[in-house]
Formats: sequence, structure tokens, C-alpha cells
Amino acid sequence: MVSRRTSRAIAALLGFALLAGLGYALRWRSNPSPCPYAQRHAIDLPRPVITRSQLRDVLEPRPGERLLEVGPGTGYYTGMVARAIEPSGTLHAADVQSEMVEHLRIRMRQEGTQNVEPIRGDARSLPYPDDTFDAAYLVLVLGEIPDQERALDELDRVLKPDGRLVVGESLPDPHFVGFEGLRHRIERRGLAFDARVGTRVGYFARFDAGVSARSGDSVE
Ligand SMILES: C[S@@+](CC[C@H](N)C(=O)[O-])C[C@H]1O[C@@H](n2cnc3c(N)ncnc32)[C@H](O)[C@@H]1O
Repeated sequence: MVSRRTSRAIAALLGFALLAGLGYALRWRSNPSPCPYAQRHAIDLPRPVITRSQLRDVLEPRPGERLLEVGPGTGYYTGMVARAIEPSGTLHAADVQSEMVEHLRIRMRQEGTQNVEPIRGDARSLPYPDDTFDAAYLVLVLGEIPDQERALDELDRVLKPDGRLVVGESLPDPHFVGFEGLRHRIERRGLAFDARVGTRVGYFARFDAGVSARSGDSVE
């Protein structure tokens, strides 16, 4: 039997832990930084809200395309996208942390995936020429970048004039980027909103270059 005093102490401890966790998340949110490699196990957990098949449906990778993944981390989505563009397509994968790049390289080798080109690169200064990619995507990455506007400019620059951009976001990521604000910032660059799968708290949104912005409906 737990005494009333013990239950009060447990409740106080739980409250304290909750507040500390909240404070940590808020501090992390106001100081964007890459998810540490030490936390890689968390990003490898199954994702019921932003699934691989949802990304495939909205990105529509086609055989032979040249694609870019920014911030692939350990490669949760990479192998699936790479296989969809085989046999002649290439998926370039740029992550700012060398440990993630190495991890991805090993994972792709172990999976037998040969059309991925992992490199260390910063979204704010992408190491690719203008008009290179048929499509680019980034999942749970944008909020970690201190200068998101510059990263969006860079993505716009490296996309072909008719390229596609897909952004994936989901709570409880402390760096979560909401859909409405994101849509506004991307449309300002001349890309048109095409579709969204998921919900407001976990979604993939697709934007198309070379199409004038339309009022756009969303797929829930
Ligand atoms: C939360 S993880 C998500 C990884 C992967 N996209 C996924 O969904 O599993 C964020 C990744 O973005 C990378 N990242 C953060 N800032 C970046 C930047 N400025 N340029 C490139 N990659 C970045 C981090 O190193 C990390 O691998």
C-alpha cells in the first residue's frame, strides 16, 4: 500500500520531470541545432504518422531521376526512395554531421543499395550547381537549421525549373515546423503548393516549381 505522502512525492517528482522536459524542448527549439548522433536510435523508431509509403506517394520518385535528400540522418527514408528511382537514377544525400553521413554509407552498403551518394553538406550552402534535381525532400530537418530562409533559397536554387519539393514534419519533434507558415514561405519563392498528406501535426507537403501558385486543397 502506498501512503498518501509517498504518492504526493511521486506526483511532485513526475511534475518536476515534465517541467524539466518541457524546458529542455523549449530551449532546444529556440536554439536550432542538428539532432545529436547519440540520439540516432530515436530517429530509427517506426513512424506511424509520417510513413515511408506516404512519402513515396507524395514525392512520386520515378526511375532515372536525380533526387536530393537533405538531412537524411541514419537513412530512415533513403533506401526506399533510392530503390524507386533504380536502375539509372541517383539519390544524393547531404547531411551536416559526418557521423550521420558515415552511418548512412554503411547502411546503404549493408542493404545493397548502390545509387545513393552520401556527402557532408550544409542545407544553407548546398554543394550542387543550379537546376540539378528533379526533386528534393527533407524530413524533420528544417526546424534544426538556424537560417531556414537560406536553406529554402538553396533548395529552390538546386531544383530544376519544373522540380518538386517535399517537406515532412511531425510532432513531438521539438523543432516542428507548422504547415501554414511553411506553405506561405515556400509559395513566396514561386513554388506552388500541390498536396499534403497526413494532418496538421504530422504531414508531408509537396510544392512544385514552374507552376503558378494556386489556391490548393489539401489531402487529409
Ligand atoms: C531529426 S534528424 C532526421 C533525419 C531523417 N531525415 C529522418 O527523418 O530520419 C535531422 C537530420 O538533419 C541533419 N541536419 C540538421 N541541420 C542540417 C543542415 N543545416 N544541413 C544538413 N543537414 C542538417 C541532422 O544532422 C540530422 O541528421
